[in-house]
Amino acid sequence: MKVTMTVNGKSMSGEVEGRTLLVTFLREELGLTGTHVGCDTSQCGACTVHVDGKQVKACTMFAAEADGATVGTIEGQANKDGSLNVIQQAFQDHHGLQCGFCTPGMVMAAASLLEVNPKPSESEIREHLQGNICRCTGYHNIVKAILAASGQEVPAVAAE
Ligand code: FES
Ligand code: FES
Repeated sequence: MKVTMTVNGKSMSGEVEGRTLLVTFLREELGLTGTHVGCDTSQCGACTVHVDGKQVKACTMFAAEADGATVGTIEGQANKDGSLNVIQQAFQDHHGLQCGFCTPGMVMAAASLLEVNPKPSESEIREHLQGNICRCTGYHNIVKAILAASGQEVPAVAAE
């Protein structure tokens, strides 16, 4: 079947099977490989995207379910001039990534959080990131990055 969705502001279409996952469509049909696949159990959050403004794990949704939707991926996060947006820059500044595999999902999750809660506490950030697994950083610097992106003071050592 044919699906059409607005992805990062552009209308995009492709042929999918009923069982094609949204993450597979984004990566393999549209070539948007910034959305990662880090598990086959819907646990890691590396595939996090925005669908109609909501944070969604793209491996938990069929592409057909997103037909007609507005989808945001990590490729759409940079500023118009191509520079890093405030969240991406904060991840860089605060060393919020190591291998980077989880990072697109973390940035998308952080963007969703800041949309509804522009000044989250450390515990709110940690709670929001429960669906996103990082196997490298220990999370401290990710939390610092999100605090910084929200314009808040960044403690020398983030609380547990
Ligand atoms: S690939 Fe979607 S949660 Fe891991
Ligand atoms: S930076 Fe490697 S998994 Fe998070």
